[in-house]
Amino acid sequence: MSFAPTLEGARVRLRPVTRADVPALYRIFGDAKVMRYWSTPAMTSMAEAEDMATRILEGYEEKAWLQLAIEKKASPGLIGTCSIFAMHVASRRAELGYILDRACWGQGLMAEALDCIVSYAFDTLGLNRLEADIDPANLASEKALLRLGFKQEGFMPERWIVGGTLSDSAVFGLLARDWHARKGHETMCTEKPHAKGSI
Ligand SMILES: CC(C)(COP(=O)(O)OP(=O)(O)OC[C@H]1O[C@@H](n2cnc3c(N)ncnc32)[C@H](O)[C@@H]1OP(=O)(O)O)[C@@H](O)C(=O)NCCC(=O)NCCS
Repeated sequence: MSFAPTLEGARVRLRPVTRADVPALYRIFGDAKVMRYWSTPAMTSMAEAEDMATRILEGYEEKAWLQLAIEKKASPGLIGTCSIFAMHVASRRAELGYILDRACWGQGLMAEALDCIVSYAFDTLGLNRLEADIDPANLASEKALLRLGFKQEGFMPERWIVGGTLSDSAVFGLLARDWHARKGHETMCTEKPHAKGSI
């Protein structure tokens, strides 16, 4: 099994990022509206997206963190990413990150993608706990977390300064046992054999 897998939901596929995704990464991470609550400012050059792709590919090699491309099965091409990062191996915990092209908001595509990556984190990587740090004003992100069963566990005022703007953190957590115990929870996701040479 590869550290960077291909996972499939009903409508979405999560797969390793490739260099061919650089223009799509720039389109999404360069969109100021999408980046409004992100922990870094919007990209202003394609070179930043190239650097991001390099770091993502290094993450696969080092097995240190995992950022997968999201694409629609019906029309391939990167429309967002999901990440498992800040892994603490001994404590079997990590943070969850996610971003979606604005044109794809409001269709439940991220809900499917997150179901896939959370299942992978708990069932395959064997993590015990996932955390997410969001701006309390980011209601779409909060909804996405609550839908997965995350609970808000904390609030940290003025934790970030991004482009000179202060912002707070709402900290959410989800335990593996709560994920598995969720009444009626069935993952929408399957892991596909790894495509040779795709990273
Ligand atoms: C956070 C973010 C990914 C959420 O995107 P989203 O499109 O709202 O999330 P989903 O894909 O899960 O879609 C959910 C919405 O689709 C609707 N929907 C439509 N069809 C659906 C379906 N078949 N299944 C589920 N939901 C569906 C839901 O009703 C829901 O709408 P609601 O929020 O009004 O209740 C997006 O806002 C984003 O990329 N933001 C910028 C990046 C960011 O801030 N990331 C988080 C940083 S911590």
